[in-house]
Amino acid sequence: MSGEDLYYLMHKDDIVTIVEIDQISGSITKVASKVKKELLPLGANLSQDDLRSWWKRRAVPIQQGTIEMILKNQGISNAQSFLTRSYGLSLMDHYWIKPLDSPFCWKQVNLFTNDFRDDIGELQFIQDDTIADRIDLLGKTIFYPSASTQGELQKKWIIQDGKRCLIKGNYGDTFQQSINEVLATLLHQKQNKVPFVRYQLCDITVNHGYALGCICENFASFAVEFIPAYDVSCSEKKDNTLSEYEHFIRVCMKNGLSEESVRTFLEYQILSDFVLTNTDRHFNNFGILRDPVSLRFIGMAPIFDSGNSMFWNCTSLPQQDPLLNISVNSFRKKETDLLKYVREYSLINIDKLPFEDEVRALLEKGNLSQKQIDGIINGYLRKTELLSKLQHGDKIWDYKYDG
Ligand SMILES: Nc1ncnc2c1ncn2[C@@H]1O[C@H](COP(=O)(O)OP(=O)(O)O)[C@@H](O)[C@H]1O
Ligand SMILES: [Mg+2]
Repeated sequence: MSGEDLYYLMHKDDIVTIVEIDQISGSITKVASKVKKELLPLGANLSQDDLRSWWKRRAVPIQQGTIEMILKNQGISNAQSFLTRSYGLSLMDHYWIKPLDSPFCWKQVNLFTNDFRDDIGELQFIQDDTIADRIDLLGKTIFYPSASTQGELQKKWIIQDGKRCLIKGNYGDTFQQSINEVLATLLHQKQNKVPFVRYQLCDITVNHGYALGCICENFASFAVEFIPAYDVSCSEKKDNTLSEYEHFIRVCMKNGLSEESVRTFLEYQILSDFVLTNTDRHFNNFGILRDPVSLRFIGMAPIFDSGNSMFWNCTSLPQQDPLLNISVNSFRKKETDLLKYVREYSLINIDKLPFEDEVRALLEKGNLSQKQIDGIINGYLRKTELLSKLQHGDKIWDYKYDG
């Protein structure tokens, strides 16, 4: 028999509204008319439908690693139902749902200060019956951060020396996503311009075999929330005359950030993504940090997820012309169009970019042939040259190549 359950939608210990959730699908079927508007999640604040889609996209994407099979084996019908059973908790922000008769408070349930064991995330790396058996999704006090963790790569959260850390795998067996994260870390460290997530390589097990993954600390906490750019942008109606880029900046300014700080961050991010040929800077791969008490924005979240870069999915390296015609998933569809937003190309110091031998040493840790490594490095050096041309005033998007 199916039915609906009522929950408070909570922000820490404040009631935002009451929602009705379908027991089978885990989706929100109704939202009470009484709503504390200022506490609504950003991106869910313009209409009741927004809250339903916010909840849906808060659930782990079914494409992530092997999550679909894991949920099926656990008898969980879908991702929103998993999210409901985990009380909607996340390691990102301070929202959760609470059954109307529940005695719990935020201090007792939040994943930032209460210990957890991310068994569901673990199963994405090791198919182990003993882990599968100890999972108790119906238990009232075990919550899984993986119910709300975004992105398509396999991943799990662990607690290491008291810190919440995310471990990520790769696409395929070259380990390039993890290596690219570490390369991006080196680049940002050398540039020392904006906050960034520090990734380190780590050993992981995938399908009972050895692999190289990466690990980083959570930048959200009991005192700071992360809100993806997607939700920031959706929190205000966009004026049709504005680009997505300008709209995002305006919403950030409306919430307390200075125009200069946002523009500088975004321009630096565009330029560093250009050098690394990161093609995946979509609106869930950057965002802002928010003070959960004042609800004011604190600043841009540190740069994270630069894994899909360095020509990771090219069978052979693009030639000159295609190198200026790279498609990206971001504010614009072409890398060169993103570059046009940048006012100050010298935000990246070319002398402080990772050297060729540093890049090579990192790439050699993966399962790549010498030929692939040479090709990737050639592409990296050519992108560096193009940046230098931009810094000298060339409009590289106007370049014409013969062949
Ligand atoms: N260091 C971190 N601290 C807090 N949240 C993080 C961190 N890294 C990633 N996330 C969250 O997890 C999501 C997935 O991580 P991401 O690195 O983007 O994985 P993928 O490569 O699969 O897209 C991000 O969209 C973000 O919401
Ligand atoms: Mg991502």
